[in-house]
Order: sequence, then structure tokens, then C-alpha cells
Amino acid sequence: MANEQNIFAALIAHCKEYGYIFQSSEIYDGLAAVYDYGQNGAQLKKNIRDEWWKSMTQMHENIVGIDAAIFMHPTTWKASGHVDNFSDPMIDNKDSKKRYRVDHLIEAHAELLAHEGKKEEEFALLKAMDELLAADDYAGLKKLIEDNKVTCSVSKTCNWTDVRQFNLMFKTEFGAVAADNPDENIVYLRPETAQGIFVNFLNVQKTGRMKIPFGIAQTGKAFRNEIVARQFIFRMREFEQMEMQYFIRPGTQIEWYNYWKEERKKWHESIGIPAEKLRFHDHVKLAFYADAALDIEFEFPFGWKELEGIHSRTDYDLTQHQTFSKKKMQYFDNDIDPATGKAYGNYVPYVLETSVGLDRLFLTILSNAYAEEKWTKEDGTEDSRVVLRIPAKIAPTKLAILPLVKKDGLPEIARELMNECKSSFMCFYEEKDAIGKRYRRMDAIGTPFCVTVDHQTKEDNMVTIRYRDTMLQERVPIANLKEIVLKAIS
Ligand code: GAP
Repeated sequence: MANEQNIFAALIAHCKEYGYIFQSSEIYDGLAAVYDYGQNGAQLKKNIRDEWWKSMTQMHENIVGIDAAIFMHPTTWKASGHVDNFSDPMIDNKDSKKRYRVDHLIEAHAELLAHEGKKEEEFALLKAMDELLAADDYAGLKKLIEDNKVTCSVSKTCNWTDVRQFNLMFKTEFGAVAADNPDENIVYLRPETAQGIFVNFLNVQKTGRMKIPFGIAQTGKAFRNEIVARQFIFRMREFEQMEMQYFIRPGTQIEWYNYWKEERKKWHESIGIPAEKLRFHDHVKLAFYADAALDIEFEFPFGWKELEGIHSRTDYDLTQHQTFSKKKMQYFDNDIDPATGKAYGNYVPYVLETSVGLDRLFLTILSNAYAEEKWTKEDGTEDSRVVLRIPAKIAPTKLAILPLVKKDGLPEIARELMNECKSSFMCFYEEKDAIGKRYRRMDAIGTPFCVTVDHQTKEDNMVTIRYRDTMLQERVPIANLKEIVLKAIS
């Protein structure tokens, strides 16, 4: 059994052992901060993505989904500000040559202070950091690091370079023909999916005859050359985002900001994340174009961290694309403005953004689901299990179908049940090993229901259903089984 300190390490090991997540290209010793999803992980990820997609598009008549390309015209990133501004303040340790993101370095030191019970010092350090970051005061940040004797985890020294900015976008070359100017061939791997939505604003608005307020949703890969990529899939270099841009009338942004802030928190709760493990964190430092921004944070095993961002982005993005592309990014609003008695007319819409990392949400769900349990049985002996209490509606496998033995016609009945259920939800069939061992394996991958077909089934057409969370078992008619599972996952 893991203790609180190493529960995160135990979760990472569990993800590998049960086919959830593998290190990318592991046979070559892996690639830092890049991960592959295994057979259970890919299915869980798809289920989370599908839930998000459904909640955004199917459940909102005024939100539609798109799937834009990863490669975009390079001017997109000039217009969005990523070429000039998508950078983080970094500092290098001169002895180890290790590079750190300044905020991560200071936060890690603050965590140490917290562990030592120095709460006031921790608070003061984080407050000073927030203020210096907000003022872009790099000399001040370096001084803060030195004054607090923040050391490098490798060299253990406090011998630091100046703080500098480092761009996080990956570049690659486009096309086979060498250009005279090599810069002409450069394209970027998108660092966010949002820009694919902005550049398609007019296409979707016109072809979908969308009326403001309306939203465009998208899920897809994003790439960032994160310097300090750590904490497993929390911060990756290749990850997936689920973003929605909500186009609104200028002046209504605070109303929609408050609406989406509550709506998104409620959605996280609807997929099984407890309310007490979620909180809002208002941004101290706003991007220059934003007029409000917050993070929805989750209490991960390594502390409270950002799960999703809600940003009121004003008309910055559409105006930038209008300027750079010289194409009008406007909307004609023929609703009547009560203040003037006339139509609102032409304007560049404001945007309210919700942006959540799919991998980070996956980690949230697994962190919350992972449990190591121990109990004393009726005969006085000890028993234990590791269980993933993933909510049934997103669990990768819903039902395990287990004939008690491999003979006497039991596999045939079990197969028939499998054939009846598999088109409605994900099932798993297994006849190897003792039944107790099979139950434990299903607990470990988070399968909410197991059904056992035994000799009695041949007499009365009843099977034993076992519930993962309570481990209780009951006899139910085989004919009712599909309905029981469908009801639980709907
Ligand atoms: N379009 C706005 C945007 O991209 P962001 O705060 O940079 O905003 C949004 O990212 C979300 O994407 C974050 O809240 C987080 O869940 C996820 N995310 C960002 N960087 C990530 C990374 N390196 N690895 C995993 N998820 C990441």
C-alpha cells in the first residue's frame, strides 16, 4: 500500500501495468514528456472526449464542432501573438546547466516551505512571485530566487543566470522545395487549437447561419516545447485540448464569463469529480487583451493545479486576424439595441473561451478514481485490492462477462450474452483464472460491472452481477442484464 507521498508514483505504475499509459517509444528509453495511451487509456480518453463533445454540441443548440488542421498558415501565429509573445521566463543553473521555468522553480521551493510548516513564508514567496510576474520584472524575479536561496535540484547550488524569455512553439519545414529564404518554409505545430476556430469564424457563421451568441468547439492535438515538463501527463510536449470559443456581443462578456465559469465547474462534477476537489483561481496577471480570466483548479496528488482556463478575450483575436489577413471578421447584428432603438449593426464579436486539456482531465479522473483498499474478511484474514472507481459512464469497459468454468456449456451462454451487449457498450470476455482473480483484474482497470455465468444459470437463466464499488453480488435474470448496465451508464 502506498502512503500519501508516493500515491502518485503508485498511480503512474498502475497506469503502465494495466494498459492505460506508456512512455512514448519506451524501447528506446522514451521521449521526455511524451506519452502513449494503451488499450484502456485510449478508450477512457475517447469516452471523456465524447462526453465533452456531447455536452458542448449536442446539448447546446447554438454550439457547433469543427476539426481544423494542425498546420496553419504561419501568419496565423504572427497575428495571434504567439511568434512574439508565447514564451515563458526561464532561468538556467550555471553549474548543472539545467533550465527552469521561473514560476515552477519558485513554486517548488514554496512547496518545500509548506512541507516544513513555514506557511507564512510560503505565502509571502508566492505573493511576491505573482506581483513580479505581473510586472514582467525579471531582475526582481532573479533577486527573489537568490534572496530565498532557491537551489537547483541537480547541482544544489544557487548559481543562476539572468531570467530570459524562451518561445515554446515547435517549428518544422513545409514542402519539399527549398525556398531562397529558409524562413519562408517554416510552419509551426499549433500550440493551441483556438486559432483554428478563429480563422474559421466567418466560414462557420455564414454556412451554419449562426446568430450571436454562438460557440465553436474543437478537440485536437497541441504542441508546446515545455521546458519543465514534469508530473507525468500533467505537462506534456504533445497533448490534446478541448476548446470552445463563444462569440458574443461586446459588453455582455462578464455575464457570459460568469455563466461559463459555473457551467464548466458543474460539468466536471457531472463526470464524477467531487465539488470539494475543484476551486476557482482568478488570474493576477491578465494577458493584455483579456478583461477577465480564471483557472478551474483540481486538487491533484501533488497539490492544487490548473485543470481548465476560462478567458474573456475581448475582440483581440478576431481583430488581429482581420488586420493581418485584411478580411473583415465582422458580424451584422440585426437585433434591436433598446438603448438606441436601432439594430446593433456591424461589429467584431467578443470571445469567451473555455479551454481544458484532455490529458490533464484524464489525470484528474484517474487521480480521483485510484484507491488502495484493505479489509478484514469474516474468517479474520486480511484482504486488499487496488480499484479504479471511474464513473460508469466514462469507464473504458462497462461489463466483464465471466463464465465460471471453461466447460459444461457455460462459455456458450456467456458468448451469447456478449453478442447481445457488445453493440451497445464495451464488454470484455474472459474465462481464464479463478473468478476472484478475474474480479481483481477488473477492479484494477475500473470495470464497473462483472457478470458470472455458473451452472445454476443453465437451470434458472439467472446470473451473478458483481458491483465494483461495493463488491456486492446479486442474482439477476440474464434477460435484464443489458438494461441494468445501460441504465447505469446513461
Ligand atoms: N487557448 C487557450 C489556451 O491554450 P492554456 O491555459 O495555455 O490556454 C488551456 O491551456 C489548457 O490546456 C490548460 O488549462 C491545460 O488543461 C491544458 N494544457 C496546457 N498546456 C499543457 C501541457 N503542456 N500539457 C498538458 N496540458 C496542457
